[in-house]
Amino acid sequence: MISLAATVLQRFRESFTSEPTLYFSPGRINLIGEHVDYNDGFVMPAAIDKGIYYAVAANNNKELHFYSMDFDEWLTVAVADIKKMNNWKNYVLSVVNEFLLLGHDVKGFDCVFAGDIPRGSGMSSSAAVEGGLAFALNEMLDAGLNRVQLALLCQRAEHNFPHVNCGIMDQFANMMGRQDEVLLLDCKTMQHQYFPLQLQGYKIVLINSKVHHTLVSGEYNIRRQRCEEGLAILKNQLNIQSFRDITRVEDLMQYKSGMPEKVFNCCLYVIGEIARTKKAAAFLPQDNLIEFGKLMYATHEGLSKLYEVSCTELDFLVELAKKDSHVIGARMMGGGFGGCTINIVKEEAIPRFIETTSKEYLQQFDIVAEAYVVATADGTRKLPVTP
Ligand code: GLA
Repeated sequence: MISLAATVLQRFRESFTSEPTLYFSPGRINLIGEHVDYNDGFVMPAAIDKGIYYAVAANNNKELHFYSMDFDEWLTVAVADIKKMNNWKNYVLSVVNEFLLLGHDVKGFDCVFAGDIPRGSGMSSSAAVEGGLAFALNEMLDAGLNRVQLALLCQRAEHNFPHVNCGIMDQFANMMGRQDEVLLLDCKTMQHQYFPLQLQGYKIVLINSKVHHTLVSGEYNIRRQRCEEGLAILKNQLNIQSFRDITRVEDLMQYKSGMPEKVFNCCLYVIGEIARTKKAAAFLPQDNLIEFGKLMYATHEGLSKLYEVSCTELDFLVELAKKDSHVIGARMMGGGFGGCTINIVKEEAIPRFIETTSKEYLQQFDIVAEAYVVATADGTRKLPVTP
């Protein structure tokens, strides 16, 4: 079977005369630490072997030519005319715009890209789209940005044209991920460490609910606003800088009546999730997967009941996992409102787990779920170009 990288390369050669450079930019999973990256929390993501392949070459004619194979759409725009547009175009143009904002002279390029991250699955195809192009432009323009600077550039790009006020987790994992390792990232300081992903007879399985609610970005920004509102009140009262400074839930409780209920619930969730992620990070090197898994279930509970970013389908999938003694932890993953659950499953029980889950899910919702056994991967990188 011809690989996606080879297909992208071939498509580029059919469309343009120059010879491109090839890049791979991965999606990500997140073990725990959800919706806390923009709340100065800790997250535990890893880059995966699914992602976006880019073929890119300079053209020096002051025009950008993009072909998105997944959408089967072309975009041609003069560098001088770059502006906010819609869907995938916003993501690529916003990355170019960030380089322009840094004062780089973008002389034009041709680009073909395609991916194998299922759309809306919560594996962050958007960060993969941003990361691949940013990495390519960094090389093409000789901009000299390091990987962390590139991740931050991509985060700004996502805030700017697409107007999703995301945290740094996805872009960081995309640039800094390492095969067979998981990151523990302090989103306040950007300090990070790597843990070997040794799951002792268990594997990570994603179940894609195939649900992708519209208005996700709107709801995402609303969660962020609620947290900001709550934190402003707490900062005033408790002389703290961020949620991580509140270590006792009782300290929050006294301000319950002074906050709208949804704001309070978001604060309660965030404080709990920051503590859970710290605990989880301690369990991993101790090989205490059972306790790690319990924390994942608790995260789901919080995301569903307090943070309100789950949905019936995801809740159903997590309940199914709970009933299966071969699954030691499960929860919704990513921004929410659909996408995947992440499950830690005993290796020999995986086929039966997938079969049972898919069957019950189909019966309940009339939707064919998809399952992926996760393989971790290195962050965004150049690939060899075959003749
Ligand atoms: C999306 C965002 C991330 C993060 C997650 C939730 O993937 O891009 O920054 O906030 O949602 O944890």
